[in-house]
Amino acid sequence: MVREGRALLLIPDPETARAPHGFEPAWMPVFYNPRMVFNRDVSVLAVRIYVERYAPHKPVHAVDALSGTGVRAVRYAVESTSEILVHANDIDPRACQLIRENIALNRLADRVTPHCTDANALLETIRREEPILLADIDPFGSPAPFAHAAIRAVGHGGLAAFTATDLAVLEGSKRRAATRKYWVSIAKTPESKEIGLRVLLGYIARAAASSDKAVRPVLSYYADHYYRVYMLVSRGARKADNMLERHVGNAVYCQQARKTVLGDECPSDEKGTIIGPVWTGPLSDGEFISALLNALEGYEYLETRERTRKLLQLLYEEASVCDSCIFYRLDALASVHTPRIPKISAVIDNLRGMGYRASRTHFHPMGLRTNAPYEAVVSVLRAHL
Ligand SMILES: C[S@@+](CC[C@H](N)C(=O)[O-])C[C@H]1O[C@@H](n2cnc3c(N)ncnc32)[C@H](O)[C@@H]1O
Repeated sequence: MVREGRALLLIPDPETARAPHGFEPAWMPVFYNPRMVFNRDVSVLAVRIYVERYAPHKPVHAVDALSGTGVRAVRYAVESTSEILVHANDIDPRACQLIRENIALNRLADRVTPHCTDANALLETIRREEPILLADIDPFGSPAPFAHAAIRAVGHGGLAAFTATDLAVLEGSKRRAATRKYWVSIAKTPESKEIGLRVLLGYIARAAASSDKAVRPVLSYYADHYYRVYMLVSRGARKADNMLERHVGNAVYCQQARKTVLGDECPSDEKGTIIGPVWTGPLSDGEFISALLNALEGYEYLETRERTRKLLQLLYEEASVCDSCIFYRLDALASVHTPRIPKISAVIDNLRGMGYRASRTHFHPMGLRTNAPYEAVVSVLRAHL
């Protein structure tokens, strides 16, 4: 038995996950990864703020469609809000047994309902029975096989949350798999961490559009070995059309400039490699992040509270720099323009002094997010040698 957040959980014996290279959660008879506490701590906050801000009609019906031990469902019910009713599901009967035991252990029989079926089948069934306002998809690898059903299940004004751990695919190292899973043409670029997130969001947006729905990311980020995204869902063919027109398009990797930009044209005189379709709109909503930061004050017990605060602060800064821009990798730019890599803090100060907005990015330690054009960033780099 372990305690995570305010929940008590029965998990499989960690000895079952002893692999030659150390602890391997995938070897457990039922999956439980203590390293994903950070992901779940942020989730508890995000669900709390979503319900407070966007779900006036209570109770909020939620589906934790790939629940493993039931940890998310239990934590949402215990820590996010007492207004939530969660369906906790897993296809593996051993997981279902643990889900039932964890519901009982936390005395949540009236608020968390166990299921033991395929995630897509459950989402399809439940959406016919009651309006779902939150679907959480936390699979092994790609969430693509569950995206359509999750978005279809979530009602107008609802929230869809997805984890993706297939980073090699999303970031362009496995191009065939990217085409297969996400219907994109992709290339490996210096900013591949952000490209991967935009590929994922773009895919979910197109899945939503196919059901006459639109999505708007309120929080999306990269951490450790995964992406996590939270998107508000709204219904309407016209909204879906607007979303596709405004926020789904191409990016282009410009090899000579060592820079990927949104759109089809390179900042330098070269014909780049088109990547897409990707999400070209904002990755997060500054107001939503700010509400999460405020709420964090009331969650002093969270194991990853300081890490969560740091991430949210940086995401907040990034969100205020530009609505639609891809970060700059200073080391990549320096490799073609300057003999050394200048100090990132100095480059940021300089750009701000010139009237541009600029911040670091959570995607990369050598990354810089700014609304300054390519030539301005290069000139600042040169000036700082
Ligand atoms: C990454 S684990 C879930 C971890 C859990 N959400 C957590 O936070 O600890 C993915 C789970 O999905 C389950 N699963 C795989 N395919 C499924 C499907 N088609 N329908 C429902 N569950 C499925 C697996 O049994 C596994 O427990």
